[in-house]
Amino acid sequence: MTSRHDPLLKAFASDNYAGVHPEILQAIAAANGGHQTAYGEDVYTEAMGEVFRRHFGEQAQAWPVFNGTAANVVSLRSMTAHWEAVICAESAHIHTDEGGAPEVAGGIKLLTVPTPDGKLTPELIDRQAWGFGDVHRAQPRVVSVSNTTELGTLYTADEIAAICSHAHDLGLLVHLDGSRLTNAAAALDVPLRALTTDVGVDVLSFGGTKIGLLYGEAVVVLNPEAASGVDYIRKTFMQLSSKMRFVSAQFEALLSGDLWLRNARQANAMGRRLAEAVSGIPGVTLTRPVEANAVFAILPRDVTERLAKRFRFYTWNEATGEVRWMCAFDTTEADVDAFAAALADEMLA
Ligand SMILES: Cc1ncc(COP(=O)(O)O)c(C=O)c1O
Repeated sequence: MTSRHDPLLKAFASDNYAGVHPEILQAIAAANGGHQTAYGEDVYTEAMGEVFRRHFGEQAQAWPVFNGTAANVVSLRSMTAHWEAVICAESAHIHTDEGGAPEVAGGIKLLTVPTPDGKLTPELIDRQAWGFGDVHRAQPRVVSVSNTTELGTLYTADEIAAICSHAHDLGLLVHLDGSRLTNAAAALDVPLRALTTDVGVDVLSFGGTKIGLLYGEAVVVLNPEAASGVDYIRKTFMQLSSKMRFVSAQFEALLSGDLWLRNARQANAMGRRLAEAVSGIPGVTLTRPVEANAVFAILPRDVTERLAKRFRFYTWNEATGEVRWMCAFDTTEADVDAFAAALADEMLA
């Protein structure tokens, strides 16, 4: 069969626009054939559990799910009782981009905090960490942070440690939306556990799709006392894959060697290259620090309109005209250079 699209054309809209890494496709093919027990009682899921334990510690337990929204909802539901709430940044994906799933499907109240750069701090957490014991207020129970953040910034290990220590002192748990945890770890050149297990994160949503999987994310419980009922909640929330071996085989391929790191380094390097290339173009202003694979900028609206006809990307903020350009594991230097050249052309048109 031939492709229905131009497989050489790249977008800068989202790392989800990328296809599947060839090593992941090979892993799926290797898991195919014959029969395996359904619903996770298969040898690939067993191997996947071991690989997650190698990265996150012997106590870590991973549950594959279909997408990142589900990883967040299942994680947060397993950490909270019905009267409890989750503190997060106003820009958090769980608040802005999940169709209200935590609230509507999960029944979880979100307590949001405006942040300058998408990052919570102990001081910002305190804006919502109050009212304990007051029956009129949803009881704060979890602090949820994303690394990297929705604004392309990242938390260092020390920053996450400070958040965890403050949250734990208040009796709160910490959830990390690690949809792009691999990008954060690669950018900081640290192991995955340095930003999670080692600094006190209790439950992690681990991202696979954006870094080369066909699909698949995982709920990873790092502190067994922080979550309960994940097995049941995953099923109730329609996330129990019958042919789980194919999700698990992908995670094993991603995490057993250095594929995750190679892919994340490539995406981040292309983010840096893009930022350097466009920052020299008069009329283009970078609006946020470029710390991983996302570049945010403001440019004239007519240029945005014309450029978007040549390459797909999102306008992040309609009010200010800010756009987001995102690089993926398969973005090449030639892709970035072609995009920057197109932008320079359109600025002169
Ligand atoms: C920070 C963050 N969390 C979670 C997700 C996962 O969302 P999805 O349900 O689209 O897989 C995304 C996807 O864009 C994201 O950027």
